[in-house]
Parts: sequence; C-alpha cells; structure tokens
Amino acid sequence: MTKVFIIGQGYVGLTVAKFAAGKYQVIGFDNNEKLVDQLNAGISHIEGIDSKELLALRSGDSYKATSKGKDIQQCEIVVIAVPTPLKEDRTPDLRHIESACKTIAENAKGPLLIINESTSYPGTVRNLIMPLIGSLSNEKFEHLYAISPERVDPGRTDWDQSNTPRLYAGLTQEAADRTREFYSTFCDQLIEVSSPEVAEAAKLFENSFRQVNIALVNELAQISHALGISVRETLDAADTKPYGFMKFSPSAGVGGHCIPVDPSYLAYVAKGLGVPATFIERANLVNLEMPNYIVERVIKDNGGSIAGKKVQVIGVSYKPNIADTRETPAEIMIETLEKSGAKVTWHDPLVKNWKGSESAPLGGSDIAIVVTKHDLISEDAIKASAKYVFDTTGKISGVPGL
Ligand SMILES: NC(=O)c1ccc[n+]([C@@H]2O[C@H](COP(=O)([O-])OP(=O)(O)OC[C@H]3O[C@@H](n4cnc5c(N)ncnc54)[C@H](O)[C@@H]3O)[C@@H](O)[C@H]2O)c1
Repeated sequence: MTKVFIIGQGYVGLTVAKFAAGKYQVIGFDNNEKLVDQLNAGISHIEGIDSKELLALRSGDSYKATSKGKDIQQCEIVVIAVPTPLKEDRTPDLRHIESACKTIAENAKGPLLIINESTSYPGTVRNLIMPLIGSLSNEKFEHLYAISPERVDPGRTDWDQSNTPRLYAGLTQEAADRTREFYSTFCDQLIEVSSPEVAEAAKLFENSFRQVNIALVNELAQISHALGISVRETLDAADTKPYGFMKFSPSAGVGGHCIPVDPSYLAYVAKGLGVPATFIERANLVNLEMPNYIVERVIKDNGGSIAGKKVQVIGVSYKPNIADTRETPAEIMIETLEKSGAKVTWHDPLVKNWKGSESAPLGGSDIAIVVTKHDLISEDAIKASAKYVFDTTGKISGVPGL
C-alpha cells in the first residue's frame, strides 16, 4: 500500500490522516513528541475524531504517528498541514512551513508528490515551498508540487472530508493529476483550478468573505441597538428574501485559526502589490472592537461602572461545542473587563484550563457574559448563574444581548 507522510497532526493533519488511512498507509509526523506518543496510544486530541476510531486505525496498522523525519523515506506522498499564524505585527508567520520544508529536504531519498494544505498567500507553493526544498536538499530530486487548501470545519458533522468539494492545482499537470488521484480515494468532488495561486487565493477569499460579512452584521448589531430594534429580528426579516442575501449572525468577534488570520494573509499580499485591502482591514478592526462594544453595553446597563463587580465570562472557546481557544474573542473581553476594574472568572466545561487559569464553577457572579454557548451548558443554568446576563450568542432568551 502506498505510504503517505502527513506533516502536522493537528486539526487538519489528523483529519486527513483519518480519511486517508486504509486507502493508504499513513505516517503522521509531528514535532510534538508528547502528541505523537498520545496518538500512537490511540488517544485523539481533536473533536471529530474519536479515540476509538484512532485506536482502530492503529491496530489495523493503517496509521502511525512519528516524530522522526526520516520516516518520510518510506513514503511517496507528503501532505503539509502545519500552522500558519500571524506575527505580532499581523503579517504572515511561515516558520512552520519553512521547518516542514527542512524536514522534507533533509530526509527525502527519492522524488515525492508534495501537497500543501496549510493556508497561505498566493505564491507560497511556487515561490517558497519549491525553492526552499530545492535549496535545502543535498540530493536533487524531481519532486512534484501541488496545493489543496483545507476546508475542514472542526466539530461539524454534515460536511466532512468526503463530501466537501476540494480545490487543487499542481505546479505541473503531472502534479495536478497525481494530486487528484490521491484525494479521489476519499473525496467525492475534486475541482482542478488552473494554477496553485488560484487555489491559494480562493481559500483566503472564502475566509475573508466570512470575516467581512461577520463584521458587517456586527456593525448592524450596533446600529440596531441604537435604533432600539432587534438585530436578530431584522436579520430574519432580511433573510426572507429568496435570492441575493446570505444571513450571518452577530457575535463577540471572530476566533479560531482561520477567519481572524487568513484575511490578513490576503491583505499582506495585496499590500506588497500596492493594492488596497480596505474591506479586510476595516472588517478586522470592527470584529476586534466587538468585545469592547459589549463591555461598554454591560457597563451602561449596570449603572455606569463594573469596578469591583464579579463578572463571569461563559464559554471561552471560539465556537460552540469545541475546545479550541485560538484567537478567541473571550481573551480581549476578559482583558477589557479587567481594565474596567471587574473581578473576572471564566467558565467553560470543554476548555477547563486556559492561559494559566482553570474554569471556575458556573455562577457566583454579579454579571455573566455569554461569549460561546456549548450544548453542555443549559439556557436555564446560564440564566440562573447571575442577576444580570448579557448574551452575545442569540441563544439565551429574555436577557440583554446582541
Ligand atoms: N483548523 C481548521 O479548522 C483549519 C481549516 C482549514 C485550514 N486550516 C489550515 O491548516 C493548517 C493547519 O492548521 P491546524 O488547525 O491543523 O493546526 P494545529 O495547530 O491544530 O496543528 C498543527 C500541528 O502541526 C505541528 N507542527 C507545527 N510545525 C511542525 C513542523 N515543522 N513539523 C511537524 N509538525 C509541526 C504542531 O505540533 C501541531 O500538532 C493551517 O494553515 C490552517 O490555517 C485549518
């Protein structure tokens, strides 16, 4: 059976591993040795892959995790699925991709099909990955290079690896054809585009589209409140139009590894080309300002000051029913509350430990602000948790909120 080497065993890498395992023998490479041991013991660390499934893959020998780069030598196909965060100045931080390239270059012993699934700006495969692997390799191989941007939505069950259409492109037609062959064993619909740059740009635009529309709806939430009308009723009303409208919902802001990050990759590349990315930059600011706006509303509702008041933030992961806290708006919310003099605790049954503190028991505060509503916490329990509850999710009836 053909062996596949997947670099990065996080949300994306492990999900692809699960779907490819059985069709291929998958070697999941990660530089986090503790995670590698855990995966080899059949313990999953992400939603959507349960440990029983992982254990079955392990015992069927179609999956193993490794922290040894030289295990690439058994493989013909490499998938790169490493983080692509932002630096402090919100420009692309590609050091994980660079390190993945180093692993490939230093260990490859023959030509490989190298597919990047990490999200990055147009030109990453052509102008970074290919030349970097070439320059770091002692032995020169005719590797094939391709991109297939990942669209997984962690925690989602209706759309997964098999039924979500997948874009792909190769630097050569042979690379594109081999990429199609690889994914067609576990993806129903594959769409080839004319260049890697189109696939890379499409991925960034998908998330920029969400970010801009979420910002727009967050702006409407503020306008509606000032008008004294319900933003959610307004959106439901607009949503009765059968064409030309897509409903987004207001929130405390955007979180996760994608929506707050990917648009900045597009803005970065636009800036380099001398093209303005006004909407993207503005949307970013509107979303980052939402926690401040919410805290201002809470202060106003509570007599103009929350200094000394006990405030509990409920749900600190960035979306319901998952434990991922990356870029969560709860972080800015807590900082803003603390600056306002509040004594802040947080409660999240899925997160438990976060930024050096532990999830507090639900309740015992004067004010509660719901940032994320997990199914595990009932509406009634939230309402009973404090005298004043502010809901940013639209899931708690009869309380102030967005
Ligand atoms: N999480 C999502 O929902 C999602 C969806 C679509 C696309 N993406 C993109 O996919 C990429 C991966 O995201 P993720 O959510 O899987 O990240 P993640 O943080 O969940 O996992 C990344 C893994 O890569 C490992 N890693 C980092 N550098 C490494 C290296 N040089 N060699 C080996 N392992 C390394 C880390 O230890 C970690 O386990 C990013 O570009 C992201 O933008 C993510």
